[in-house]
This record gives sequence, C-alpha cells and structure tokens, in this order.
Amino acid sequence: MTVAEGEARASVVEGAPWWRQAAVYQIYPRSFADANGDGLGDLPGVTSRADYLERLGIDAVWLSPFYPSELADGGYDVADYRDVDPRLGTLADFDAMLDALHSRGIRVVVDIVPNHSSDRHVWFQEALAAGRGSAARERYIFRDGTGTDGAEPPSDWQSVFGGPAWERVADGQWYLHSFAVEQPDLNWSNPEVRADFVRTLRFWSDRGVDGFRIDVAHMLTKDLSEPLPSAAELELIPRDGDHPLLDRDDVHEVYAEWRAVFDSYDPPRTAVAEAWVDKARVPLYARPESLGQAFNFDLLEADFDAAQFRAVVQENLELAAASGSSSTWVLSNHDVVRHASRYGLPHPARTADGHPAQKHGSEWLLSGGTSPVLDREAGERRARAATLFVLALPGSSYLYQGEELGLHEVAEIPDAERQDPTFFRSRGAEIGRDGCRVPLPWEPSAETAFGFGSGGSHLPQPEWFGRSAVSVEEGDPDSTLSLYRRALELRHALQTAESLEWVETGRADVLRFRRPNGWEVVTNFGGSPFPLDRADAVVASVPLVEGALPADATVWFGPVALRVGAGRRPDRRSGLVPRLDGLVRDGLAS
Ligand code: GLC
Repeated sequence: MTVAEGEARASVVEGAPWWRQAAVYQIYPRSFADANGDGLGDLPGVTSRADYLERLGIDAVWLSPFYPSELADGGYDVADYRDVDPRLGTLADFDAMLDALHSRGIRVVVDIVPNHSSDRHVWFQEALAAGRGSAARERYIFRDGTGTDGAEPPSDWQSVFGGPAWERVADGQWYLHSFAVEQPDLNWSNPEVRADFVRTLRFWSDRGVDGFRIDVAHMLTKDLSEPLPSAAELELIPRDGDHPLLDRDDVHEVYAEWRAVFDSYDPPRTAVAEAWVDKARVPLYARPESLGQAFNFDLLEADFDAAQFRAVVQENLELAAASGSSSTWVLSNHDVVRHASRYGLPHPARTADGHPAQKHGSEWLLSGGTSPVLDREAGERRARAATLFVLALPGSSYLYQGEELGLHEVAEIPDAERQDPTFFRSRGAEIGRDGCRVPLPWEPSAETAFGFGSGGSHLPQPEWFGRSAVSVEEGDPDSTLSLYRRALELRHALQTAESLEWVETGRADVLRFRRPNGWEVVTNFGGSPFPLDRADAVVASVPLVEGALPADATVWFGPVALRVGAGRRPDRRSGLVPRLDGLVRDGLAS
C-alpha cells in the first residue's frame, strides 16, 4: 500500500511535495525494538511500534541500514543491497512494516550505502578469489603496493575511522577502504557498479519505498590516476570539483542517472544527500536534477547560542533557495553525541575557521562521562528549546530516535562492549558513536531491557534509562515525549509557505521569527526571562512564568486564525488544533 492510498498527512502545504517540509524520524533498526528477543532490534520490532510512530506525529521514517551485514560499522557495511539481514527479519517483514507505516500515513526512506560494500559482499569475495587483473577486482579499487615487493601501501592515505586506507590481500595487492577495513570502496568508474545500484534503487522503489538517504554522497567517484598524491598533497588540493577523492563534479553524472530512476515513479522517489562538502557546493546535491535535498549539519556543530543559530538558519535558507530545494535541520543522528548532552557540556574550543576543534563531547566521552561535568537538566532543557525552535523552521526536520524522550548520550559503556570501528581503529583515542545507539527504553523495567526485548540489549543500557522510558513519559504531560507529540501535531496544523521573517527582540540572546501565516516563535538562549508581548501561546518548551519566557526556552504563538478546539489530536479533516494544556499555563492559553 502506498501513502496515497492510505490517509494523507495534514502537514503538507497545498500542492507542495511531502518531503519539502517533513518531520522525518530516523530509526537505527538494530536499537529500536527487538521482536524476536535476540538482543538486536529488528523490522517486526519497528512494525510493533507503528502506533507509537503514528502517535508521535512524524511524516516519514528514515531507516538506517537493515541489510545483511557483519556489523563492522553498524550496518553501513552492506553484504547484500537487496535483502534484509536475517537477524532483522525477511523481505516479507519489510513489506509488512512498509504497509503498517504507509497505512498510518508515514512515508519510508531507506539508507543506500554506495561508496563501499561489506567485505562479505559476493562481489568482494569474487574479487579476492579471481586475483589480480580480473574483472571482479575492477569492481573495487585494487592497486599494487610500493616499496620492496610492493609491501608498502600504494599511498599514505588515512581512513576516515583512523589507520591506513589500504589493506593488503593474500596475493600482495592492496584495496582502498575509505572507512573500516571491512568496507572496500567500490569503483564508480565501472559501468557494472553503476548499473547494479540502479537495480537496487528500482528494487526498493518497486516495493514501495518513498525515498532514499544517500550515505557519504560526496565520495563515490574518484580520480586515481598515477602517481597518487600523498596525504599531505591531498590536503592542499582545492575542493572545487576536481579533488581526486572528494566532492567531484563527475559524481553528479551518477545522480543524474538516479534522478531519472526516481522520476520514473509516481510519485517520484525522493533522496537526501549526506554530503560533507564546502557550503557553497551543497546546492549541487540538493538541486532537483541531482538528489533533490541535502543534509545541513551546521546545527550539529553550533553551540546553543542565539547568534550561531541565527547565522546557521539564515545561511541555510539562502543555500536552499539557491538550489531550489528546501532546507533540512538536524540536531542529532546516529553519528554524533546526542544534543541533550552536547548542550549540557561546556562549549567546545573552536578552530580559527569556527569549527569545533574536536567532535563536541569527545573529551567527556573519553572520561567515561565524568569530566567535564554534564549538567543533565540544563542539557535537556536546552535540547527541548532547540527542538521547538527547529521544528518551526521552514523545511524538513530530521529527528533521531530517542531524542523525543530527551535521552542523553550513554558515556558509561565498558570498552569490552564497544562496537564502533572508530574506537578500535583509533585505538581508543576516540570513543566513537555507540553512546547514541544504545537500544531505546520503552518501559521502566530493566528485566526486559527496558521493554526493548526479552533477550537483553546488544549495547548496555544504563539504569537511568528507566526514567525516560516511553511508558513513563507518556503518562506525564510535562515530559519531553509529550512536548514532541504536541509540537509535531501543531506543526501539521501550522505548516505554511517556506520562509520566515526575523522579528527584532532588542536582545542579542533572544531570537524571534514569524512564518508567513503568523506562526511566531521566540527562543530565549540567555540567562534572564524575556517578557512576552503576546498571550496566545500554543506550546512552550517549559511553562511560561508571569508572561515571560524563561531562560533556555522556546514558545510558539499560533496565527490569529488558529482555532483552538478541544481534544488531544487535531482533526485532520477540519484542521482544528487541540487545546493545549500542561505546558502552557499561567492563563496564556485561553
Ligand atoms: C556515514 C554514516 C556513518 C558511517 C559512514 C560510512 O557517515 O552516517 O554512520 O559510518 O557513512 O558508511
């Protein structure tokens, strides 16, 4: 069943494609819900929580990889692009999940990992067996080594996860792996590779998926003409479309072909690029002729700070306008320290060009979560404020599983239980990403891995997870989960044309913006309360106090025409918005 056949979501602005202003919820399937009790989340687990997802009020789910994988990189090492990992279910389970979500009006986006396969992929096994000079090796990037007997790698390049980017095989050749050893880079100059990915895109599109998230979309094509530059030389080559390894102009030939595939479906399939490229080049990926949308990761690097937030918003709205796409907003995902924890830690030191000198939270993770001291409460409060700010921005918001519970990063995972290759390849110098991938708490009891499943949890869950369990937060109108539900409901009713106007507040630490229909948002990033000149708040991240917005908080005001009805859920047909209680108090909601 497609969504068009099911119930359409109300948030779509008349005539605009759904993805332009969607709330997309990222599921990391191995850590969401475990239906078969083997300690690993699975697709029937997702299906079993379809009502939860509907009640949350999201427009789409983005599923991180669920394909067969040896889990050398959390599933981003794909052994078969057109199947389901048997530990996660079957293709029939995938179809059942798709139906369950589609019938609830939720679209499904799947992750495509085209830069590299797993070393267990049949192609890589064939390449090893077939030997040097074979057609099978041409699907990957094999080279002879340098030095005596070719015992040195073809170049001194480092992999993204640390350690050398080349690995030697039994017959003495070397293969390139930009990430883990188990992730050999595919050769995108080979037409067979290109054709196979088109087949994969069609395979999932034919099954009914609505779109794709493209992993490291800027790395596929490479110019490996000899002599290979050294790592130091690579650093000096401008990233202007002709860099040997990154963000090459010719990658868009691949995406032009994919675009034709997407557009051959009705409705056209969508795509969003994970492209870590210079800002000015993001629109190349977001153009309608290319992937159509690109992630903007600036908020992952920004502090909870008014000036930084405003600059990020302004710049990205301009970039989105330049591409013809809509903007995207991301506060958390499976690769970074959760934003509740980032905002409870001191601001990171920055390099001369303004980027955090280290990944935010690295030092705290290395200390096992003890130093610097995490202010949990401030972090949660700021995370709620930031989320409410972001959910009101024009464009799409990408939410990461567990942030709706206000979850913190888990810093106390014993080294022996770590899984992230970053930890192993950096020899512990970097802790990696396991802390945001710990299975979700659904219930307060540790007996059932906090409701994750009867077979324990593949990453250890801390005792404090119980307090943030879904069943606990559901019963609390002031919980982060209740806030997300209310905000997402309202977002559907309030969604409007893709622009905003800044309203001056007279304070450098308070931002205020207005959407074209009069939906207004105020965020207080500062220390003292900000007196409000409106009394018709529809939702706030914390209770307002005597008509003022407290520190680290956000409030939304509805347009004048917003009609406040009774009942908890908006009526999708009439568009009536429910009366809001709980978070809006002090007589502000009349
Ligand atoms: C992307 C993914 C990350 C993965 C990497 C290699 O950055 O988000 O999780 O490790 O690609 O596939």
